[in-house]
Amino acid sequence: MAAKIRIVESIAELRAAIDSKGSPSVGFVPTMGALHVGHASLVERARAENGTVIVSVFVNPTQFNDPQDLERYPRTREADIILLEKSGADIVWFPRYDEIYADKYRYQIHENELSLVLCGKSRPGHFTGMLTVVLKLLQIVRATKTYFGEKDYQQLELVRGLATTFFVATEIVGCAISRDDQGLALSSRNARLGPAGLETARAFAKELAVTSRSLEDLRISLAKLPLEIDYLEDRSGRRYAAIFVEGVRLIDNCELKKENHS
Ligand code: PAF
Repeated sequence: MAAKIRIVESIAELRAAIDSKGSPSVGFVPTMGALHVGHASLVERARAENGTVIVSVFVNPTQFNDPQDLERYPRTREADIILLEKSGADIVWFPRYDEIYADKYRYQIHENELSLVLCGKSRPGHFTGMLTVVLKLLQIVRATKTYFGEKDYQQLELVRGLATTFFVATEIVGCAISRDDQGLALSSRNARLGPAGLETARAFAKELAVTSRSLEDLRISLAKLPLEIDYLEDRSGRRYAAIFVEGVRLIDNCELKKENHS
């Protein structure tokens, strides 16, 4: 039987809960909720490597460039708590907007290179919002290790740079993408797809996984599917893709074999 999870909201409550655990290592998994097996695997890894495990659940408004996307983002608080309890988290933190953004977002973290390409190009302001909130969360939790999924590989790289640049004393740990049995990367957004959309998303994942062919050939194969390509790009030994299926934006990436590096 899993131990009872502590639910906290204010920063003071969170700090008191961490201190009361008195453990030398703290693992932190920042999330926006609507949790699935992919998140559970991050929490399980944090559980295996740390004395105390904290998960934040905060739908961060500043990283949504589209207000409708923010509105439609699933909020599943009770189910999230159950999943976190089962995965072994000690503390779930639901940050308060007024505490996180006491400055009304006057202070922001801008990165001027990687944040402007791939997802940054099609989602202006997204990475500024993400980096700003992540820096705040890292400063508050002060974890030994902080865990991010590789599905958002661009995010992971930006967060690594953030931690190095601002001397944040936490180790950023990247975790392999969790996929369903047909290779589709798990995402909270998959829940918005109908059966036909799911089939298309899975066919896309299968096509993307064939890394031995050129981007042009991949583009030709994807043109046969009922989807819209946002971007398809090879960069620093990885192939990155973002698509729209039934109006839902999905991202994925995979490592390229050495001979395909562009
Ligand atoms: O990947 C996410 O869920 C979010 O971008 C994060 C890291 C929790 C920041 O809001």
